[in-house]
Order: sequence, then structure tokens, then C-alpha cells
Amino acid sequence: MIRFGIIGAGAIAHAFSKACLDSQFPLQGIASRDIERAKAFQKQYGFREVYDNYESLYLDPLVDAIYVATPHGLHYEHMLAILKHKKHIICEKSFTLNAKQAKHIFEVAKAQNVFVMEAMWTRFLPLTRTVLAKVQQGVIGQITSLKVDFAFASQPSDASRLFNPSLGGGALLDVGIYPITYANLFLGKPDKIVSKAKLTSALVDGTIDLEYLYPNKKACLHGSIIEEGGKDAYIYGDLGYIKVPFFWGAHEAFIYDLKHQLIEHIHIPHKSNGYEYEIEAFIEAIENKTFRTPYMNVEDTLSILEQMDTIRKQIGVVYPNEI
Ligand SMILES: NC(=O)c1ccc[n+]([C@@H]2O[C@H](COP(=O)([O-])OP(=O)(O)OC[C@H]3O[C@@H](n4cnc5c(N)ncnc54)[C@H](OP(=O)(O)O)[C@@H]3O)[C@@H](O)[C@H]2O)c1
Repeated sequence: MIRFGIIGAGAIAHAFSKACLDSQFPLQGIASRDIERAKAFQKQYGFREVYDNYESLYLDPLVDAIYVATPHGLHYEHMLAILKHKKHIICEKSFTLNAKQAKHIFEVAKAQNVFVMEAMWTRFLPLTRTVLAKVQQGVIGQITSLKVDFAFASQPSDASRLFNPSLGGGALLDVGIYPITYANLFLGKPDKIVSKAKLTSALVDGTIDLEYLYPNKKACLHGSIIEEGGKDAYIYGDLGYIKVPFFWGAHEAFIYDLKHQLIEHIHIPHKSNGYEYEIEAFIEAIENKTFRTPYMNVEDTLSILEQMDTIRKQIGVVYPNEI
């Protein structure tokens, strides 16, 4: 069984640890810059070891794979350091700041013969897979458009990773990546992207609006970390439509006909908190030695990052630490 280590004892590390605990995936070590935070994780989730720095976790011979739960502006340097120790990596989204960094990480991983995967949990959810299958079966006919929103209001602050350019702040990499992922899942790569943004005083995007244009179809995608807004996905077809509330971690969806009559309510409760599916797939890809999962691979990560590079060029957001 793959034994996990985690770097960064923040919000998402809790969710990952809970999924591992519920699923009985071994939690070998937790590393935090603050040993008291690491000890609190140990108490709550049963990690065997605690470390007050990340490097010591990399040196633990009983750690097989490391979950990178630090802000996305640090993912590149943290993954490069981990790869020197030949550990497998499951890294939070956004995988890196840009496609160039990601390409380099995947090259090094190949040379070291380890598996590296972006933790885009939405792709692995049984609900996502079921909705995709329903669309492919034609329950709403041909897709005509998509409307996908992930927005919330938070107060800009220098202390928050969300607004800090050095940590990869901004709506696009934090929340915009989910509507973009949905557009790619249901419609593929767009022919053209039109982007608009509201920038914060630190010159990261507080709000992002995207038009993804395809032949005869389009997707309207919205993300915000400064303004309250929608949290649902709508997939419209010529015979009906599907609403997926809180689509990024969804456990239910509603299928309607064109008269807004409910045709089907799909409900698939998570076994734990929804993160268990990406972790299961990650473990399987290592154990079966393919280093491939059914739903998230190198080309998916690179394609999404290339699209986000294009968008950032259009809106003029540049990070100080990107190569
Ligand atoms: N998949 C999802 O549903 C989901 C949800 C939320 C976030 N995320 C992703 O997960 C990553 C972390 O997000 P989060 O919400 O967990 O953030 P967070 O609560 O701020 O935690 C990030 C952790 O990174 C560590 N860190 C190391 N260097 C840091 C620095 N210079 N500044 C700030 N923190 C630093 C800190 O842990 P120590 O001090 O303990 O070392 C901190 O607690 C992001 O890439 C984000 O996009 C994914």
C-alpha cells in the first residue's frame, strides 16, 4: 500500500487527510513550518511522523508519495525538491503557474521514473462521470452551450494566498480552473478564448469572465474571489438541460426537459468527502505501474495550463516567480 506524506498543513490538507483516514490509506508523515500544526494533524488523523520542515519528510524512507498542499505559486519548487528524492507526487491545482513549469516537472518525473498527477478531484467524481455518460447517451440531445460559475466574496488581504502574486494569487488559478475543466470535459479544447478580468490592487485577477468559443457552441465561464456569485454548472442541449449544483465537488445533478420538467435526479453520495476518488486512482496508477489514470493525465494538465497562459496574456496577469 502507498504510504502518504503531506507538505503544508492548511485547509485542503485537512480534506485530503480525512479522505485517507476514512479510506484507510496509510498516512506516514505530515510536514509543516509550524510543528504545533503538524502535531494537531497527527492527533486528528493518526500520522505516524511529524516534521517541522518539508525536507525531513522527503528523507523519510517510509514515505512513498507526497501530497503537495501548499499555495500554487510554490508547487513548482516544492515538486522539484521532492523529485530529487524519487517520491511519487499528487499535487493540488493549479499544478504550476504555467505550462512551461509543468512540462519541466513531467520531464523530471519521467527521468526519475515516478508518477506525478494533478489533484483535480472534479474529474474523478462518480457524479461527474455519470453526467458525462448521460450527455454522451444523448439525454439532452446535442450540447448547445455551457454556463459554469464558481464565485465567492472574500476580502482582499496581503496575508491571503488568494491575493498574493508570489503565491499564484487570483481567481483564474484558484476557482476559474474548475469551470475551465468542465468546459474541457464536455466540449473539449476551444477554438478561441475571449477573457475579461477585474484586477485587484496587487494586479491579480479578482474576477474572471471567459467565453470559450467552439463551432456552433459556446461556454460562458465565470470565477471570482471578490464578488459573491454562482456555484453551479448548466449544460444545455437541444432536448433539455442538466444542472449540477456545486459542480466542482458534486454529488447530485438534475436533468430537465425543455419545458423545465424534472426528468431525473441523480444522487451519488461520496464515500468520504469526495477526495477519495482521485486518491484511489493515483494509488492504482502507481500499483499497476502504468502511471496513467482514466481521467487525469499529463496532457490534461498541460492543455488546461496552456489555456490559462493564453487567458493571463489577454488579461495582463504576470507572476513574479514564473519561468
Ligand atoms: N482541490 C480542492 O478542492 C482545493 C481546495 C482548496 C485549495 N486547493 C488548493 O490547495 C492548495 C493550498 O490551498 P489551501 O486553501 O489549503 O491554502 P492554505 O490553507 O493557505 O494552506 C496552504 C499551506 O501551505 C503552506 N505554505 C508553505 N509556504 C507557504 C507560504 N509562503 N505562504 C502560505 N502558505 C505556505 C502552509 O502550511 P505550513 O505552514 O503548515 O507548512 C499553509 O498552511 C492551493 O494550490 C489550492 O489551489 C484545492
